[in-house]
Amino acid sequence: MKADVAKFVRFCDSLLGKQILRKEAAYIYNELQGSEAILDVGCGIGSFEQHLPTLNIIGLDVSEDMLEEARKRSDKTFIQGDATDLTFHDAIFDAVFTVTTLEFLEDYQKAIQEIARVTKPRGKLLVMMLNPSSEYFRENVRRPGDYFQRIKHTDTEELREYVSRFYVISKEDLFLGIHGEQVFETDDENLASLYVLVGIKKQ
Ligand SMILES: C[S@@+](CC[C@H](N)C(=O)[O-])C[C@H]1O[C@@H](n2cnc3c(N)ncnc32)[C@H](O)[C@@H]1O
Repeated sequence: MKADVAKFVRFCDSLLGKQILRKEAAYIYNELQGSEAILDVGCGIGSFEQHLPTLNIIGLDVSEDMLEEARKRSDKTFIQGDATDLTFHDAIFDAVFTVTTLEFLEDYQKAIQEIARVTKPRGKLLVMMLNPSSEYFRENVRRPGDYFQRIKHTDTEELREYVSRFYVISKEDLFLGIHGEQVFETDDENLASLYVLVGIKKQ
């Protein structure tokens, strides 16, 4: 587990990792600015908490090792917990976001149920998931031992259908081209590394 954290830290602190993070953070900021209480499910080493200092975010992750690193990077609140069994009361967050996490969970549908439970009516959900059609995904997933090989779900349509049980989908997007060490703007299905879904919680 510590090895995973070290690998993740190396990636996030690399030139490429920083460029990716900046773009993702800007996207999250544009969508969630103005939301009062925000939950980040699968916050990892707290990169978004670090890069979005003006947003009121609580970071949640199952890995205490990830959280140990997150607490060095940001003084926001970090909580150890399982996305599929959240310990929060119902309807307390104005917004929830989750970046490249749902696809790694055995039961992502349970996580969506839990996220929906803790989101206020008319609150927002922002999901960023790796786009399985992208060049970036296809290259990484065939690399032996790569973290991408732990991915359990790649069906974006199924995800949208499940999320739409709880949220009115307000945006579906493809975003963030990555080629070698370069990051560029694109919404081309074969080039955009991320699939993005935004929804507004049903009453
Ligand atoms: C690929 S990382 C993404 C981290 C962060 N969102 C980012 O984009 O930098 C996936 C994260 O999900 C966390 N995770 C895996 N299963 C989880 C679960 N059941 N509940 C909460 N977090 C989980 C992992 O510990 C890891 O930090």
